[in-house]
Amino acid sequence: MTLTKDPVTPTALLHDRYGTAFDFIFDNAWNSSLTTLLSHCSIRAYLSKPLPSGTLQLLVAAAQSAASSSNLQTWSVVAVEDPARKERLSQLAGGQAHIQQAPLFLVWLADLARLQQVTEQRGLPHEGLEYLETFLTAAIDASLAAQNAAIAAESLGLGTVYIGAMRNRPEDVAAELGLPPHVFAVFGLCVGYADPAKPAAIKPRLSQEAVLHREQYSLDAQLPAIADYDTIMKAFYTEQNMTVEGNWSQHSSDRIASAEALRNRANLRNILNNLGFQLR
Ligand SMILES: Cc1cc2nc3c(=O)[nH]c(=O)nc-3n(C[C@H](O)[C@H](O)[C@H](O)COP(=O)(O)O)c2cc1C
Repeated sequence: MTLTKDPVTPTALLHDRYGTAFDFIFDNAWNSSLTTLLSHCSIRAYLSKPLPSGTLQLLVAAAQSAASSSNLQTWSVVAVEDPARKERLSQLAGGQAHIQQAPLFLVWLADLARLQQVTEQRGLPHEGLEYLETFLTAAIDASLAAQNAAIAAESLGLGTVYIGAMRNRPEDVAAELGLPPHVFAVFGLCVGYADPAKPAAIKPRLSQEAVLHREQYSLDAQLPAIADYDTIMKAFYTEQNMTVEGNWSQHSSDRIASAEALRNRANLRNILNNLGFQLR
């Protein structure tokens, strides 16, 4: 596989997204939103260059433009710009240096505290907050909001990378950010200008034969597509000098092989209970 050096055309972008030619009939006009979406790649090296003023507010407006389940808006975000706090959060995330490097670190929260307060102020019950369904709603709302912000940032020429490692030590993250009970940091998002000295490449995804099902789901039909993807990703890891053992199947299997493979996160249910979520 040869990655396109300057993936600006739709054909080149789609090629890079799948690591192989992707042909289909598209009976509509291409646009810059599609270019932004298909150009995504995580950025893990940032310049210290500050963000233009108003960027944070624009990103949050984009985030708030996402759909929200029943418009409950069960999410919030903490914007961290203080270098000392970014350093501490970086340590809590296993020493990921890009958290410290990026001028803006956004921590996206599943937030049920606001609704709890609203109902308590009115003397109303809030039993519904104690159910897994409501926690999942909040995590989905936070994810949709964050992804809108990420795309908005990328449309402005900024780089981003999500930080799921905010869930490595959730109680310490909650203390660092002053989170009340019923608020959980789902993940972080680094935002900043990519360091051109350390360019990142578009990472191929599974082909649509694996993820797109028409009318009914099929598991077995995915096997050939996964075998092809393993070949593509092995070449990608080599081209990008990535220290990944084997291919995608191997790498992914390793991540779910045991409770230890989940690192500290195997204990998440208990931690969520400690943070006030009942998850009945
Ligand atoms: C919820 C979530 C959590 C992630 N956590 C981390 C992380 O802690 N550190 C990191 O370097 N990348 C993290 N990533 C980035 C993924 O590794 C990346 O999106 C994936 O490898 C695909 O690569 P791409 O984003 O460049 O296409 C995370 C992505 C998501 C969606």
